[in-house]
Amino acid sequence: MKFTKILLLVVPMTVCGYVYAEVPTPKILVAYYSLTGKTENVAKAIADASGGQMYKIQVAKDYPSDTKERRAILEQEIEQNYLPPLATNSINPENYDIIFLGSPVWANHISQPVKSFLAKYNLDGKTVIPFVTHSGGGKGQSFKDITTLCTGCVVDMDGWSNWGGGTSKKLTRWVQNQIKTAE
Ligand SMILES: Cc1cc2nc3c(=O)[nH]c(=O)nc-3n(C[C@H](O)[C@H](O)[C@H](O)COP(=O)(O)O)c2cc1C
Repeated sequence: MKFTKILLLVVPMTVCGYVYAEVPTPKILVAYYSLTGKTENVAKAIADASGGQMYKIQVAKDYPSDTKERRAILEQEIEQNYLPPLATNSINPENYDIIFLGSPVWANHISQPVKSFLAKYNLDGKTVIPFVTHSGGGKGQSFKDITTLCTGCVVDMDGWSNWGGGTSKKLTRWVQNQIKTAE
């Protein structure tokens, strides 16, 4: 009799424990590169809507502030597909399950620092949800770039593409929907 009572208590607890162990809350990272702040603004809204950890992708050697000089360097880096070394960051993206990955569109592609990010970390098995900002040309090849540069990632091709750095309720709904789909 005593044994049966114990079983009645222990079995459901074990089952519950098992259920919890099988469905952990996904760890969400909002990683982004932003040269002039627009992608950063969208990244902040995504972090607010998702509860994710912000991760600023930064180049080890900052680009010049003079826009003409900077543009020339960027165009050369794009042309040569140069991957600029990144500054160190105490957060390891490999410890996250879902990664919102943000970039400005550069010459129809994701930015060189985001390419560096994808080359630096092993994100195999992670769900990567792209978001980009542009100045009217649209997302271009940017989402496809991520599938090419991270063949082991599960890339959500229903990414977010924004003209400029504005945010909206639609963006919040998109964030919540993409997380549900990824889980
Ligand atoms: C080198 C370079 C290339 C760019 N190429 C494009 C492009 O192909 N299409 C486009 O719509 N905007 C292009 N832009 C504009 C940026 O994508 C746009 O201003 C973006 O929102 C900037 O984001 P950020 O403020 O986070 O850097 C380019 C900007 C730079 C600096």
